[in-house]
Amino acid sequence: AMVEKGEYRHFMEKEIHEQPDSVQHTLSEYLDLVTGKAKTGAIDFAAIDRIQIIACGTAFYAGQIGRYTFERIAGLPCDVEIASEFRYRSPALSKSTLAVAVSQSGETADTLASLTWCKREGLKTAAVVNVHSSSMAREADILCPTHAGPEIGVASTKAFTAQVAALLALAVAAGVQRGRVDADKEAELVKALFESPRLIAECAEHHADIEAVAHDLAKARDVLFLGRGAMFPLAMEGALKLKEISYIHAEGYAAGELKHGPIALIDEETPTVALAPLDDVFEKTCSNLQEVSARGGPVIMIAPETAPAPHGADIRRIHPPDCHPLIAPLVYAVPVQLLAYYTAVHKGTDVDQPRNLAKSVTVE
Ligand code: G6P
Repeated sequence: AMVEKGEYRHFMEKEIHEQPDSVQHTLSEYLDLVTGKAKTGAIDFAAIDRIQIIACGTAFYAGQIGRYTFERIAGLPCDVEIASEFRYRSPALSKSTLAVAVSQSGETADTLASLTWCKREGLKTAAVVNVHSSSMAREADILCPTHAGPEIGVASTKAFTAQVAALLALAVAAGVQRGRVDADKEAELVKALFESPRLIAECAEHHADIEAVAHDLAKARDVLFLGRGAMFPLAMEGALKLKEISYIHAEGYAAGELKHGPIALIDEETPTVALAPLDDVFEKTCSNLQEVSARGGPVIMIAPETAPAPHGADIRRIHPPDCHPLIAPLVYAVPVQLLAYYTAVHKGTDVDQPRNLAKSVTVE
């Protein structure tokens, strides 16, 4: 059936607002809300000693968020690589590694070739894909579906959060299977994950502050996105989203790397967007923002209302709801997407069909 925009101005806007459903649906594939347990799926995480994630574009950032979580929760070593690099560099991998391709379309040429290569090398393979009849879905030993439904906007939104939801849920399953997560912890993490659809909806509804910030962001030539931990890949995703649809140059950086380069770019005209949930590195991110502010850089801090404010001039805040640190990448994805969306709308660019970009890159 043809997918229509309905009441929305763009497919991207519609797809942002579909995320409570697509995340819920995807989580339900891997977790049981009633029992508070991870479902025993097709992946035997006790039989592997490493994960190698391979992806392109937005899916690569989802993979990096997965990496932080597999290592933190399950103690399972995890590497993530861009498929176009992986496939041409003769990577050294042991047979006890699980190769995981992450892809919305399941057709991206470099990701598919990497997956095929891993299979030929004798590795077990899995594919986290949104199109369940795709080449990658067929090629992989194990299909790990996301349930985002058809995504029309070239800039990925709901497919990204569905990938993140699947990887976070799989990390919980891995933690349980590897004896790192006991029953109480499992129940806590499963409950936290199932809170994300409601918090995502809350973020998507409260966009007046984001629209106001986007109005100013539209004037910028360069924008810096900062984050630590799983917020670092989300910062890179935020920068990618902004450049893809608004054509504003943006870079995502690990907040701790600020003083190793990007701080040289800071001036009154260069805004910094910081992703700062109340986690164990919140204070560190705050001191980075004070450094930006002290150099005259405008700061847009995405942090809960309950978080203390760093000292400095020109610090604006966007307030996502309080959330468990595990689901911060899902909840904070929404303000990041909306910031890019409203900035692009303000600039009048073609949001759903950005210049030079393709939805699916099936040729090299
Ligand atoms: C293209 C799209 C991106 C997407 C990337 C990977 O560049 O414009 O939105 O993230 O391909 O696509 P895949 O289908 O493999 O997730």
